[in-house]
Amino acid sequence: MIDIHFLGHAAFQLDFDGVKLLIDPFLEGNPFSPITKDKVEADYILVTHGHGDHIGDTVEIAKRTGAQVISNAEICDWLEGQGVKTHAQHLGGGHQYPFGYVKLTDALHGSSLPDGSYGGNPAGFLITTKDGKRLYFAGDTGLFGDMRLIGEEGLDFAALPIGDNYTMGPDDALRAVKLLNPCVVMPMHYDTFDVIRQDAEAWAKRVAAETSAQVALLKPGDHYSL
Ligand code: NI
Ligand code: MN
Repeated sequence: MIDIHFLGHAAFQLDFDGVKLLIDPFLEGNPFSPITKDKVEADYILVTHGHGDHIGDTVEIAKRTGAQVISNAEICDWLEGQGVKTHAQHLGGGHQYPFGYVKLTDALHGSSLPDGSYGGNPAGFLITTKDGKRLYFAGDTGLFGDMRLIGEEGLDFAALPIGDNYTMGPDDALRAVKLLNPCVVMPMHYDTFDVIRQDAEAWAKRVAAETSAQVALLKPGDHYSL
């Protein structure tokens, strides 16, 4: 069983087989984070792109916990320069870790780092656990047709941005659900700031009416067991 803890915005902690994965740990400065960067535990930290609301507190958390960061090569170089242990991958490439297989997927977005350094291309993550569960974390992205290819892999879970303005909005996120066809879909990257405020319950109703996906509507601090 995989416990998916929502830490607000696009931040998650996945807990399974005794391993803790953090995804995009933006905790300090995230008004809804249920946990602080000084308390959160991690064995691995997955970073989709360089923007501050995603790389967040990665450096501090990785140094304190000794967690290995998984991201693109440019972000890993930047982190290694600050004494963080990393494993660099790139778009379309997968790697087998002790907890499962991680592939970097396309994402339509930017990726500059907080100090203005080049952060390579943004990514999403496709995680396949040892018992074959497949989870897709889209990262910040607009809608793209090749989501259909990601869906062909067979998704147990997908976390998709619905906030609009910086990423897909509710209409395109609904189209994404139809391309990805996940068993369970969870909206993210909304309500954190005024410009991305959305009615997630209304979106969940549309998904339920128009697709076969179940919607996991989590509040920050909630968790979902898959
Ligand atoms: Ni971003
Ligand atoms: Mn973002």
